[in-house]
Amino acid sequence: DLAVGTAVAGGGHHAEQDYADPFAYDVEYRERMAAEFSSLSPENQAKWEYIHPRRDFYNFYPMDAIVRFAEENRQVVRGHTLFWHSQNPEWLEQGDFTDEELRAILKEHIQTVVGRYAGRVQQWDVANEIVRDDGSGLRVGPTSEGGNIWITRLGEGIIADAFRWAHEADPRAKLFFNDYGVEGINAKSTYYYELVQDLKAQGVPVDGFAIQGHLSTQYGFPGDLQANLQRFDALGLETAVTELDVRMVLPENGIPTSAQQAQQADYYRRTLQACLAVEECNSFTIWGFTDKYSWVPVFFAAEGSATVMTDDYERKPAYYALQSTL
Ligand code: XIL
Repeated sequence: DLAVGTAVAGGGHHAEQDYADPFAYDVEYRERMAAEFSSLSPENQAKWEYIHPRRDFYNFYPMDAIVRFAEENRQVVRGHTLFWHSQNPEWLEQGDFTDEELRAILKEHIQTVVGRYAGRVQQWDVANEIVRDDGSGLRVGPTSEGGNIWITRLGEGIIADAFRWAHEADPRAKLFFNDYGVEGINAKSTYYYELVQDLKAQGVPVDGFAIQGHLSTQYGFPGDLQANLQRFDALGLETAVTELDVRMVLPENGIPTSAQQAQQADYYRRTLQACLAVEECNSFTIWGFTDKYSWVPVFFAAEGSATVMTDDYERKPAYYALQSTL
């Protein structure tokens, strides 16, 4: 049974916008989220800088609210994320910790966060975006240049430890790698393909490989998406699409052309079809369902309209493309 999910807006760029927390205050948003989806992902609320803003303080409130909402609406939850180079709190990045202290900090964080939601989170993105864009290796280097603090300071072996600690804290949760630019078969996805084989050979509890799916109509559709998911499936892994959106360069008037809308619908449809065709592709999540709260215009200049509904919750061709494919 395929879980069909959305990111739940809050934190991150939402905190900089001139509206109140959508999840807390936008009634229509909440109602549609309850009605349309069977899985929820915290867009920011479980990231280090939100859930662990000070060394000795966790802010569980926003994530607790999402998990409770999901249970009330019979939805599952994808946890995101435990081990990343981005959105880490200042106390961690600027802190003057020994390697031993850093290791203890990571272990405590994973045990605390995963343990708190044990049995209530279906999948965790344990390791997020750990491979360089060109697929040449892991993100080792200064944090100011996109280096992963954990791998840089503690070595590659810390990846296996992160998965082991998460598994100990919640043996039922499925534990994933998650990244962008790994939709097709390329150097980056092949790096993961080899890494997960190594880890599985060592008995590390890795359950899944997820592609984010931040696509753009500027670029061709990754036609080998299904083949790529399939090769991970063949290793005995679950696969997932975790952050799908399809952005576009908007015309002067800000309104997508019908050709753009059709191309976007086609990309959404083909991504869902690829997942449906792969046996253990069990989770399909879009990174927000309304343009009202999408991260795209904030992060990609002049681009937008990336989700399946307009600001006013009007359904786009992409919405119907997904609905008719499911
Ligand atoms: C984005 C959020 O959507 C924004 O609100 C936030 O300001 C930055 O992060 N890959 C990921 C996600 O794994 O966590 C990112 O989410 C988008 C790219």
